[in-house]
Amino acid sequence: GIELGKLLASTGYITYDPGFVNTGSTSSAITYIDGDAGILRYRGYPIEQLAEHSSFIEVSYLLIYGELPTATQLEEFTQKINRHTLLHEDLKRFFDGFPRDAHPMPVLSSAVSALSTFYQDSLNPFDEPNVELSTVRLLAKVPTLAAYAYKKSIGQPFLYPDNSLGLVENFLRMTFGLPAEPYEIDPEVAKALDLLFILHADHEQNCSTSTVRLVGSSEANLFASISAGIMALFGPLHGGANSAVLEMLDGIKASGGNVSEFVNRVKNKEKGVRLMGFGHRVYKNYDPRAKIIKATADRILNKLGVNDELLDIAKTLEETALSDDYFVERKLYPNVDFYTGLIYRALGFPTKYFTVLFALGRLPGWIAHWREMINDPSTKIGRPRQIYTGEKQRDYSPISER
Ligand code: ACO
Repeated sequence: GIELGKLLASTGYITYDPGFVNTGSTSSAITYIDGDAGILRYRGYPIEQLAEHSSFIEVSYLLIYGELPTATQLEEFTQKINRHTLLHEDLKRFFDGFPRDAHPMPVLSSAVSALSTFYQDSLNPFDEPNVELSTVRLLAKVPTLAAYAYKKSIGQPFLYPDNSLGLVENFLRMTFGLPAEPYEIDPEVAKALDLLFILHADHEQNCSTSTVRLVGSSEANLFASISAGIMALFGPLHGGANSAVLEMLDGIKASGGNVSEFVNRVKNKEKGVRLMGFGHRVYKNYDPRAKIIKATADRILNKLGVNDELLDIAKTLEETALSDDYFVERKLYPNVDFYTGLIYRALGFPTKYFTVLFALGRLPGWIAHWREMINDPSTKIGRPRQIYTGEKQRDYSPISER
């Protein structure tokens, strides 16, 4: 493939593929997807098995290092992360500069970008111990940054991490706890969030991961590359869809719960109206993550005693779409984002914050891809071509003659 590409380039031919629908930008040994069959595997392990038996920290290890850890390796990895959860006090002050109603995604991206100014000792992409240190720093500090972005938005004081807790529990406490009050972690809530993080942990060459790889291909450091990935995830056609789904469901509820009317608007291709949380570039079958999440939404809402009318609207919407020719012909099924928002909402997160949770889950995948890219001898700086459609050539005219 690479040789053929080089040959075509030397003859002046360009592969024109807007949106990279059929362009392989890399080889990768991290995640396998069969979109027609609805299969997703991390390092060969089916997502269903990992969802049932593993934990987010173990899956992070698996994605980054390629193998499931032994008990000792997992313990060491956990300890290493726990040692790095604190932020530099000066970095905390960054949050003062943002408006209180700022969206937490650009706040998070800016803070991650700023890590490359605070940790200049770990920026060399070709020094293994450096990359290892940056990896651990990111896994440890991004949950703290995410929790602080939330605290800032509601005007509450920041809580220092409690390193006797697990990664997800620590994040929940920093997000929902208060300084003077003990915070009791609900194991059901922690388990549900851990599961959602596992399901989001990687998805091969999606928009944000490709962004991380592209930025990293210029040999920009890991913090800089991940910061760019967070901004790619922000968009409503990618990670931002989880918030957009909730807004869509809220809108349907507010207009009397008429699902068919909304579906008709989608089918009529009304400008800006799509069935959010449906459709996928790669899955032309039910997204295997959505299957697990749908079952989890039922279970967690029941356990928490939450009776959310939006869950019923979502289910009716899914049923209506799956039996409608428009969606059947186009192979549009629920994707990972369709039911996640309902769970996040039941766990107490505001809609605006959902995409930050996606970023926390996707972080190990981004890191794994950046490391694979930087260690691959065939990596070249990413530099797509174009078909020029502008003026051929013209002569400059003085401003008085225009
Ligand atoms: N609602 C209505 N119609 C849709 C939808 C949708 N959600 N998704 C695709 N279609 C239609 C398109 O209008 C198009 O129809 P046409 O052939 O008549 O023009 C056809 O299906 C193919 O759609 P494309 O936009 O070409 O598909 P593409 O692979 O480029 O887009 C995407 C994939 C962006 C995910 C799209 O399905 C979408 O916008 N979905 C809603 C947003 C969303 O849920 N994003 C999250 C994706 S998962 C993730 O990133 C985590």
